[in-house]
Amino acid sequence: MEGILYGVGVGPGDPELMTLQAVRVIRECDLILAPGKEPRETVAWQIAAGAVPELEEKEAVGIHMPMTKDPDTLKKAHGEAAERIIQELAKGRRAAFLTLGDPCIYSTYLYVHKKVRSAGCRAEIISGIPSFIAASAAVGEGLVENAQMLHLIPASYQSEEAAGLPGTKVMMKAGKAAARVRDELLARGEKGWAVERCGMEGERIFHSLDEIPDDLSYYSIIVAKEAGE
Ligand SMILES: C[S@@+](CC[C@H](N)C(=O)[O-])C[C@H]1O[C@@H](n2cnc3c(N)ncnc32)[C@H](O)[C@@H]1O
Repeated sequence: MEGILYGVGVGPGDPELMTLQAVRVIRECDLILAPGKEPRETVAWQIAAGAVPELEEKEAVGIHMPMTKDPDTLKKAHGEAAERIIQELAKGRRAAFLTLGDPCIYSTYLYVHKKVRSAGCRAEIISGIPSFIAASAAVGEGLVENAQMLHLIPASYQSEEAAGLPGTKVMMKAGKAAARVRDELLARGEKGWAVERCGMEGERIFHSLDEIPDDLSYYSIIVAKEAGE
């Protein structure tokens, strides 16, 4: 029997935001993959376990995905991850790779997905609610109206390039650069908000840019928003 890999988006934090499809696919899989050494300790696992209690009984494998920007280290890790998964698919296994938010948005799953497919194996993407969509709902504000544009900015790589873009700018992956990103936006007189740990324990909501503290964690979204009607 041919194996299959699913990249399953588990949403940003609250298990209630997992889709029915994500829950069904996880239930039907016999192997659960999550990025990190200890799959059961990952954020994605903990979210999924909140909606699929039987997850704890399933076989789990941690997939090493280093947090680095070094292209050689990343290439090597992605190649090894894909090889490991292809071996399991060759045994006919149904594997779910859990990923935070939606697999199509800055997800490490995407590297594996492409490699597994180009090796001729089956791989499918199961949508999840992206963190910036849930963060917008948590703040109680829309992201774009009428003809406004929406830009996703990986802020630890390029936040200054975003200056002058019209519409709404969603700053993701700001990490340690969060205070710098906030200050750049404030210096340009932009308006916006931020959400840290959306739907997770310790969620914090900041309704204006000047409320954002220096110690924002990796799980944060900063939004600079053009005024609506
Ligand atoms: C590697 S990206 C993954 C994005 C994810 N695939 C998605 O659809 O949201 C990680 C970034 O997503 C954002 N993020 C993910 N979960 C979040 C949450 N619960 N609250 C706030 N930001 C979150 C942060 O900007 C974080 O740096």
